[in-house]
Amino acid sequence: MKLDTAMSEINRESIRAMRLSYGEAGLDEGEIANDPIAHFIKWLGEAAENIMVVEANAMVLSTISGNQPVSRTVLLKDVSTAGFTFFTNYLSRKAESINKNPKVSLLFPWYPMERQVIILGSAEKISSEESESYFESRPWSSQIGAIASAQSSKLESRAELEEKFASAAAKFPEGTKVARPDYWGGYIVRPISIEFWQGRYSRLHDRLRYELEPTSAAPHDSNWQVTRLNP
Ligand SMILES: Cc1cc2nc3c(=O)[nH]c(=O)nc-3n(C[C@H](O)[C@H](O)[C@H](O)COP(=O)(O)O)c2cc1C
Repeated sequence: MKLDTAMSEINRESIRAMRLSYGEAGLDEGEIANDPIAHFIKWLGEAAENIMVVEANAMVLSTISGNQPVSRTVLLKDVSTAGFTFFTNYLSRKAESINKNPKVSLLFPWYPMERQVIILGSAEKISSEESESYFESRPWSSQIGAIASAQSSKLESRAELEEKFASAAAKFPEGTKVARPDYWGGYIVRPISIEFWQGRYSRLHDRLRYELEPTSAAPHDSNWQVTRLNP
């Protein structure tokens, strides 16, 4: 669609007028019982069951590249008291950023549920055994795709990518074991802050931020301090 056609359908005035009235369902400190990971898992389950939410496990990962924040979507593939795991290419732009500065942010945008969760923490590579185990569980075409894509680097053409896919597929035909490339694996984000946002009436939204106590001996157990914030 050409830009001027698009703008006749959606113009600045209509963007400004976009406004939903948020509901009555609130978020209460008691409900979370000082266990933000357990509460996150409860919300993730509710998002997964809600047909309005597409890809409930999709999260916006922001990294810092020099002095420039960069965001992109990745899929959450595991969550536990230890942290939040996703898989990617270890030579990608995001990996390069994480190597230099492991501090990241994760954002779950569950708009149909009037909910958002923002996690701050540090990313680190998971063990190659864990990456191997997840790689093996992926469909064959995704495994071949991981080999074929030198993620974030320049392609001369679409054909170049298709050729790389075909050559990896010839090397590892469907039904055979596909060797995981060592440049593909997982990161775990160990959280230091988890903020839950629940939309409420009159823009009086609920915001509860859980932060790990800095002195915490076992940081990933349950030493969380809660603060209620202005919306
Ligand atoms: C819904 C969705 C899910 C995605 N999931 C992943 C993922 O799990 N891992 C990944 O590396 N890229 C995923 N991507 C692609 C990334 O957003 C991004 O384009 C890619 O990782 C390259 O990012 P980078 O160049 O900043 O490293 C996903 C994109 C979308 C829209």
